[in-house]
Amino acid sequence: MKILVIHGPNLNMLGKREPRHYGTETMDDINRQMADKGMALGVTLDFFQSNCEGHIVDRIQSAIEQYEGLIINAAAYTHTSLAIRDALLLLDIPIIEVHLSNIYKREPFRRNSMIADVVSGQICGFGSHGYLLAIDAAFQLMRP
Ligand code: DQA
Repeated sequence: MKILVIHGPNLNMLGKREPRHYGTETMDDINRQMADKGMALGVTLDFFQSNCEGHIVDRIQSAIEQYEGLIINAAAYTHTSLAIRDALLLLDIPIIEVHLSNIYKREPFRRNSMIADVVSGQICGFGSHGYLLAIDAAFQLMRP
């Protein structure tokens, strides 16, 4: 079983970026922890990060029929991107939306997710641990 993990804009700066909201671990630290967990479950994880909306759309399109699950933190595009929402609708697999911070406890403009109603479920507010919870969630939904 294969899961694709997509990190949106500015998540490549984790570790340096607003640690109060996003913690001190880097994206590579998080990816390593996810890969370890995936290995324990017998799931292969591929990772992709981009700061560009179109590149994220391209990567989602190229995931069609290639993966059994998708984990996505679309970062700021969560709140704005109809294009990413439309791309997710192309996939017929479990999709888990992740946010490090609790977007409902922050500025009003972060409370709306353009993708929340087209994903299987959302995990937010648990920091980097949310990504590990997302693997469990995807794994449960992927199992026949
Ligand atoms: C985020 C929350 C978004 O509002 C923000 O733009 C991000 C990160 C999170 O993981 O908490 O870049 O998705």
